[in-house]
Amino acid sequence: MNKKILSIIKKKNKTKIVSLSAYSKNLAEILDKHCDIVLVGDSLGSVLYNYKSTREVSLSTMIEHSKSVRLGIKKSLMVVDMPYNTYRNSKEALKNAKKVILKTKCDAVKLEGGKKISAIIKTLVKNNIPVMGHLGLLPQSAKNFKFKGKKNYEREKILKEAKLLETAGVFSMVLECIESSLAKTITKNIKIPTIGIGASNNCDGQILVLDDLIGLNPINVRFVKKYTNIRKDISKAVLNYAREVKSKKFPLKKHSY
Ligand code: KIV
Repeated sequence: MNKKILSIIKKKNKTKIVSLSAYSKNLAEILDKHCDIVLVGDSLGSVLYNYKSTREVSLSTMIEHSKSVRLGIKKSLMVVDMPYNTYRNSKEALKNAKKVILKTKCDAVKLEGGKKISAIIKTLVKNNIPVMGHLGLLPQSAKNFKFKGKKNYEREKILKEAKLLETAGVFSMVLECIESSLAKTITKNIKIPTIGIGASNNCDGQILVLDDLIGLNPINVRFVKKYTNIRKDISKAVLNYAREVKSKKFPLKKHSY
C-alpha cells in the first residue's frame, strides 16, 4: 500500500487527521505545511463557480484545478473528488478515475455514497486506485441539506454503509453533517479513519473548505468556524492600492524600470 495512505490509516486512535479542501496552487502550498490531507473538493462548484449544486461540476474542471493544487503539494496526501455522473458504473468509474490520477498525479479519489457504489469502489481498489469514501450528507445527490442520523433507520443505514465501504476497501471516509453520537459509533466500529465535517470531534480527523474557514467564501453554517476574515484584509489592501494609484503614490521609482 502507498506509504502516505498507510501513514494516514496509522493515525487512527493516535493523532487527529488534519484536512482541508483547496482549489489552487498558492493556497495548497500553505496548506501542505499543516495538513495531512488536501482535498480538491467538488465544493468548488458552489464556492468558486456559483453553481446551484456540485452536480454541475465537470471532470475537466476538477482535473484543471487539481493540476494547479498538485503544484503546491509536496508532503500531504492529495485526494480529488470524482464529480457527479463520472462513476455511474464500474467501467465508467475506472476509466475516469484512471484519467484523474494520470493527469493530476493525485494520491487518491473520493466518491460519495454507500451501498449503491460499493461494487464500484471494489473495482477501483482492485485496480490499485486508493479511494476515500463519503457518507452522511451527500451533496451530489442530496434533496435537502439537513444533518443525518436523527432517525433510527437512518442511523442504522449509515453505520451499515460505513462497514460496507470499509469492506469494499476505502482507506478512510468523510462523514458529513451527521449526529455526534452516530459519528462516535461509526468511528469506533471501523478500523479506518473517519474525517468529519459537521460531524463532531468524535471523528478521527476534520475537514473544512479553506475558503470558508478564512472568511473568503461568505457563508454562515453551523459547522464552519471562521479563523480569520481574509475578505477584510484583502479589501483593505485593495483600497490602499486604489488610493495610491489615484494619488500617484504608486508606483514609485523603485517599482519602475
Ligand atoms: O467538496 C468538498 O470540498 C468536500 C469536503 C467538504 C468534504 O467534499
